[in-house]
Amino acid sequence: MTIPDQQALKIAVAKAAVAEVREGTILGVGTGSTVDCFIDELARAGVRLAAAVSSSRRTSTRLESLGVRVIGLEALKEPMDLYIDGADEIDARLCMIKGGGGALTQEKIVASAARRFICIVDASKRVEILGRFPLPCEVIASAITPVSWAIRALGGEPVLRSGVLTDNGHPILDVRGLQIEDPEAMERTLNQIPGIVTNGIFALRRADLALVASPAGVVRLQHN
Ligand code: A5P
Repeated sequence: MTIPDQQALKIAVAKAAVAEVREGTILGVGTGSTVDCFIDELARAGVRLAAAVSSSRRTSTRLESLGVRVIGLEALKEPMDLYIDGADEIDARLCMIKGGGGALTQEKIVASAARRFICIVDASKRVEILGRFPLPCEVIASAITPVSWAIRALGGEPVLRSGVLTDNGHPILDVRGLQIEDPEAMERTLNQIPGIVTNGIFALRRADLALVASPAGVVRLQHN
């Protein structure tokens, strides 16, 4: 697929996601190039939000540049109706790998504050088994060595993402070589390793709906 084709799919799925947003609500907004398209399409469609809760500086900047008020989670009185975000991989049960853009921790937190999670992707992100995309893990810098030992014991090969710190100031290990047959179990296991702030498996809180764009159109996948 050429890059212009993929961009067209991102715009198509972004437009489909705009149709899911209710005017006047507070929306949780993820991070990434697909979400950038979604923010642009939301503005183009003239949908007015009460406010947005953002998952990254990148998203906050884009939202604010288009006149959307960005608030913190502490301003919420109840869970948001909806969180919209992309993914690096998504399986048939709507479990995901996220964090390719480094925003995984805030994404998991903001997603946890919403009743519904809609994942927006192009069809290249669909997989049978998660793990071909290197699994991002945000780690405390001083813990990189023991965290790497623990990851190797699970069969993965951690690679430090060069020159990158998250919005929280932490490095990221991208873990290659994991076949994630049981995403919930692997997410729990990684959650137990001291020094991992967040792992990029989104299975314990998977998406409720995926909008998937292919050249044939946008399909809706509910989890099975
Ligand atoms: C950001 O940290 C990620 O979780 C993104 O949601 C994910 O990488 C998808 O990004 P793209 O829409 O750019 O592919």
